Amino acid sequence: MPDEHTMKVHLSYGDKTIELPVLNGTDGPSVLDIRSLYAQTGLLTFDPGFTSTASCESSITFIDGDEGRLLYRGYPIQELVQQSDFIEVAYLLLYGELPTLSERARFSEDVTYHTLVHEQISAFYNGFRRDAHPMAVMVGVVGALSAFYHDSLDIHDANLREIASFRLIAKMPTLAAMAYKYSIGQPFVYPKNELSYAANLLRMMFAVPSENYIVNPVLERAMDLILVLHADHEQNASTSTVRLAGSSAANPFACVASGIAALWGPAHGGANEAVLAMLSEIATKERIPEFIKRAKDKNDPFRLMGFGHRIYKNFDPRATIMRQTCHEVLNELGIKNDPLLDLAMELEKIALEDDYFIERKLYPNVDFYSGIILRAMQIPVSMFTVIFAVARTVGWVAQWREMITDPLQKIGRPRQLYCGKKERRFIPVEKRGR
Ligand code: CMC
Repeated sequence: MPDEHTMKVHLSYGDKTIELPVLNGTDGPSVLDIRSLYAQTGLLTFDPGFTSTASCESSITFIDGDEGRLLYRGYPIQELVQQSDFIEVAYLLLYGELPTLSERARFSEDVTYHTLVHEQISAFYNGFRRDAHPMAVMVGVVGALSAFYHDSLDIHDANLREIASFRLIAKMPTLAAMAYKYSIGQPFVYPKNELSYAANLLRMMFAVPSENYIVNPVLERAMDLILVLHADHEQNASTSTVRLAGSSAANPFACVASGIAALWGPAHGGANEAVLAMLSEIATKERIPEFIKRAKDKNDPFRLMGFGHRIYKNFDPRATIMRQTCHEVLNELGIKNDPLLDLAMELEKIALEDDYFIERKLYPNVDFYSGIILRAMQIPVSMFTVIFAVARTVGWVAQWREMITDPLQKIGRPRQLYCGKKERRFIPVEKRGR
């Protein structure tokens, strides 16, 4: 529970002055507790895009946007990337502590136990066009899981919540790989539970029944790193969507499907795909100034994809890690000169020296480099955001569980500033003069 600050905020409105408490978390900005504002004054707050609104109390992830810090349960992302792996990070996000050896083994077993999907799920894929975007397919099939696991699911039962969590985390790579296989007309590949989470995903995407497939350890490490970096990011658009959907006590599989839908947008997780499209469109270093000019033009909707972040106003620590890893992965894969990476580096350099980007504190974000690594790993561009969704499922599930057990939890129900017509009388059609 947060501490109540000794400081109060006094708000005068008309002839009334009310006192509002300030609450302290363990780190980051304190918050003004406005829960009694409407009852005391009849006023609502107005904050489109939630730029000044803390929507919940959370102990999972902390971001310091000015310092460029990202912590999962208190551990800096850099340390987790160097010393941990995705399955351990998933445990940490869900349970709050790093696992012991036996806890880790048990958790890994629990998750892998659920990797298979019901055979009937395969039939859903056949309903999609082969050229359907895999994110569209994911929204559909993850939502469809709610039809398979609904009757038994009482979200107020901790045990059932636990099984639903395992199922979601375990089945996402299987469903993601099936979306890819379907798009290229290859048979689905069943999971192999002796493999790591990352290796299993790669194998299900790239193996074919007619040949042996050995997972390349460089790719496995790179995939694991991408999963760790994307696992959670506090109350972003997709996580808030999952929480809002879940606040009505909806089925968690359906809630995660709503998170996938929110993630798909190019302003959020869809940016990794958009970065690659943008780099391909720019094509040569000589054309960079033209695109920078377009990004600065208020009459042009074009934005530099992979630049800017609502919270990070210094740098995105995930982008720094990705940038370093990008070179390592390309080296290890024997890719000496990647023209797209050269182009990205040049674009980054030019943008970071430009007053427009400096003044607005626009730095490369995680998506700026992740697309280049994923492409080097031969992951098709349309699957980039799907990989992000696989990783973020852990965060969505951890946040959903935290919300369900939060004593302050209520159905999410924002209000509005109504600017429409005042009440008026109905006009029969023959009397409408327009
Ligand atoms: N290119 C050009 N101008 C930009 C960009 C950009 N990428 N991003 C922000 N701006 C400008 C914007 O026009 C505005 O200028 P002004 O003050 O003159 O009106 C100013 O910077 C502030 O922008 P904003 O839209 O108010 O900022 P926001 O916090 O609402 O948006 C953002 C954050 C990430 C949606 C936005 O920076 C953006 O659209 N970036 C490109 C898409 C992208 O890379 N998204 C991935 C985010 S990180 C991965 C994830 O967590 O999903």
